[in-house]
Amino acid sequence: MGEPWWKQAVFYQIYPRSFADSDGDGIGDLAGIRSHLSDLAWLGVDALWISPFYRSPMTDFGYDVSDYCDVDPLFGTLDDFDALLADAHALGLKVIVDWVPNHTSDRHPWFLDALAGRSSAHRNWYVWRDARPDGAPPNNWVAAFDPSAPAWTFDEPSGQWYLHLFEPSQPDLNWDEPAVVDAMHEVLRFWLERGVDGFRADVIHAIGKDPDLPDDPPALFGIPHCALNDVPVTHERLRDIRALVDGYSGDRVIVGEVFLLSTAAVATYYGHDDELHLAFNFPPLFAPWMHHPWSDCIESTYGALDVRSAWPTWVLSNHDNPRHRTRYDFGGSLMGENEATRDRRSEARARAAAVLLMTLRGTPFLYQGEELGLLDAIVTPERRVDPGGRDGCRAPIPWDGTDTHGWPTGAGIEAWLPFPPDSDHRNHADQRRDPGSMLHLYRRLIDLRHRAPALATGGFDLLEITEGVLGYTRTDGDESYAVLVNFTGQEVTTADGSTGEPDHASVSLVGTRVEISSTRPGEGEPFDGLLAADQAVVLRL
Ligand code: GLC
Ligand code: MG
Repeated sequence: MGEPWWKQAVFYQIYPRSFADSDGDGIGDLAGIRSHLSDLAWLGVDALWISPFYRSPMTDFGYDVSDYCDVDPLFGTLDDFDALLADAHALGLKVIVDWVPNHTSDRHPWFLDALAGRSSAHRNWYVWRDARPDGAPPNNWVAAFDPSAPAWTFDEPSGQWYLHLFEPSQPDLNWDEPAVVDAMHEVLRFWLERGVDGFRADVIHAIGKDPDLPDDPPALFGIPHCALNDVPVTHERLRDIRALVDGYSGDRVIVGEVFLLSTAAVATYYGHDDELHLAFNFPPLFAPWMHHPWSDCIESTYGALDVRSAWPTWVLSNHDNPRHRTRYDFGGSLMGENEATRDRRSEARARAAAVLLMTLRGTPFLYQGEELGLLDAIVTPERRVDPGGRDGCRAPIPWDGTDTHGWPTGAGIEAWLPFPPDSDHRNHADQRRDPGSMLHLYRRLIDLRHRAPALATGGFDLLEITEGVLGYTRTDGDESYAVLVNFTGQEVTTADGSTGEPDHASVSLVGTRVEISSTRPGEGEPFDGLLAADQAVVLRL
């Protein structure tokens, strides 16, 4: 088997504050994750990505790190991490951890020292500049989360500005300073030696900056600079990082968050198989529930990545954006429908999307709770805590239908965010008992993907079916599957598909075996050519 494990793996993202709580403080923790590993093994995922659990003042809930080599007491201890990793490995689960190399917390000892004055030892570890002659910030870069916020904060005592592509509490590290490179490489070694299987590298495309720090074009004003920063020096730095990680045995992986607007630009961060192993693919995270946006996004992803033999990733939801079920409801034309209809149709869409996610060529990343079909929580203004307004998708996971949903309660303590809607029945325990649930659908899909190399790593070809229905084949040798996704609210009849090649070879679908149906009835039976509204099927050709 020449292929690295991460090409065939299904990843599962854990946002530790919200996954499971072991100690009743209302905040999820490492021991909580450990106690649910068997549920993840049951689901069948291969690898976990755990969002940051390092020491942090939590202004960005852990993406503001004040010690990269220790666990925040909220989440536990290094011993808890070791125990979690050992148990995960014993269950055959790989674990990758988040690495946040672009910025530290403003409480990190390095930055505290940098604040001590212009000649302090760590001053040059961050990006300092004088004001422009008129007293304005050094350039026009805009920070994330607020299009009117400059990416610079003035430090009164030293009379200079420091750069932060995110919050003022997240000063950018200066990767032009060799000591920063060494220190951040040390962090990689620390976790590699503890046995992690790799990293998710946070805003990795931003660790290089144009040395002149030029203004962003006025036409792009209001777009955060982190979505625009794309300079050659980053690629050199990534090659060093890649060499370091590849120096460890066991096919460790780096999946990078390259938050740039064009897939072609993202593709360059794979280098020539010497930079990132994988990069997140953002267009599907924003695509509406419609045929052509999806087929365009698939074609442009493969178009941009295949020329470099770069391996794609697919993601529907994460901790930074509304969950896809919520998006497909509110952004997806269900607004005028009554509540019961909306609920039924957003469930159907989320199920069909699961079929899509698990059958595309590339590595799928699930975000915790999507296997339950969760919607975003409704967070009242008094309970909002995130500067970026991302609380809804970070709601705690409901483990069961009790009042506290499997989160232990201390006196007067509730979970840090409200639970998602309908948690009394839309929760892990209830869905585990119901073979027709979304949870079981995900489990069957993951199982099929594991049994069928065609679905994991086989060839991909679009099929022409009919307007509103996306179709494709996945083929490995003489094993071949067809996937059909009905994006419309109507029943559709489809007897065959065409490959779209010059000879328009036709593929007959009726009568082939239904391996998976997003609605479940009909699995194991011959396909009758009918697709219900928002239904997806996997057919064995
Ligand atoms: C990434 C993370 C996000 C965080 C930001 C700053 O985009 O996914 O949650 O706020 O980086 O670290
Ligand atoms: Mg806790």
